[in-house]
Amino acid sequence: MGNKPVYILGIESSCDDTSAAVLCNGKVLANIVAGQEVHRQYGGVVPELASRAHQAHIIPVVHEALALANITKNQLDAVAVTYGPGLSGPLLVGVSFAKGLSQSLQIPLIGVHHMQAHILSHFIDDANIVEGSLSHPQFPFLCLTVSGGHTQIVRVSSPFDFEILGETIDDAAGEAFDKGAKMLGLPYPGGPEVDKISQSGNPHAFHFPEPSVQGLDFSFSGLKTSLLYLIRDKVKENADFIDRNRADLAASFQKAIITVLIRKLQAAVQRTGIQQVALAGGVSANSALRYQLVMHAREHHWQVFIPKPAYSTDNAAMVAMAGYMRYKKGIFSSLYLSAQARLPIDEKETNPTKTDT
Ligand code: KG4
Ligand code: ZN
Repeated sequence: MGNKPVYILGIESSCDDTSAAVLCNGKVLANIVAGQEVHRQYGGVVPELASRAHQAHIIPVVHEALALANITKNQLDAVAVTYGPGLSGPLLVGVSFAKGLSQSLQIPLIGVHHMQAHILSHFIDDANIVEGSLSHPQFPFLCLTVSGGHTQIVRVSSPFDFEILGETIDDAAGEAFDKGAKMLGLPYPGGPEVDKISQSGNPHAFHFPEPSVQGLDFSFSGLKTSLLYLIRDKVKENADFIDRNRADLAASFQKAIITVLIRKLQAAVQRTGIQQVALAGGVSANSALRYQLVMHAREHHWQVFIPKPAYSTDNAAMVAMAGYMRYKKGIFSSLYLSAQARLPIDEKETNPTKTDT
């Protein structure tokens, strides 16, 4: 490879964001994300509509990323693409596009695991804000991955070695935010709405019982049911209950989720003795979670790593970063790479790969 700069194109299409990014030696030159408004009216992602929107967006998004990075497609060294986990149709759009591009440009194709990419976003050059300064975690570190589909505590021993220490036994944290938001009459996706409205609410106004799940596993479905029952009972007494208490309900519900997340992280730190703790996934954009984690870390002398909001929610820069790490090791995917709706983070490659070392 010599000293020639390495340009990686990253592509992400696992859910409802179409994203393309260009990375040069680990630095982000462009990270374009096209969201999909079409799902709002349905209160959740409609997979078929998402696939169609990805098809419409993918070429313009890639063009925009290349233009912003000020390179041509012929300068690319590899194409990295999310191949799972996620929605099958949407994943297929990205994987098919990436295969076609890698074939036509005669450059390597690199399949990337979506949640590994969220975690590896911490290695993007300007990714982390740690009490005002920039830095990256050292291996091994713990990562709390919290997204719309996942809630896990992962021990990350290398860019290729992920071990799940605990995970949700029912809903993911992002799902809990989204379902809670729906009950409060907030639009989809609910997480950012709960975050926003909670800023003017009292987190102590309502009490939600803490889920009692052993070890490092999580459960959020009971919390969701508690909110449902509270609303149902109070609305019987006062039809305006939600309208009058929306901010307090949101803040209290949010606090209950965050309390569990931090308590389990604390248990994981105690169990492993690892005091470097990172956050990853869409819910890591939550302002209260970020604040509480920094406060907790200060008190307990942990080193915390929190990605910038742009790298917290779905983006292709993280995919390009994970791809760059594979590129440096010569770990490439073959044309048999296929979209995998379910793909455990700790599973060894399920797609045939070729290594050219
Ligand atoms: O990682 P992500 O963008 O997509 C998935 O891989 O699922 O995560 C999306 C999830 C959604 O549930 C969304 O409501 C939640 O992250 N989310 C938030 C915030 N921003 C996004 N949840 C709480 N507060 C936020 N600010
Ligand atoms: Zn994600």
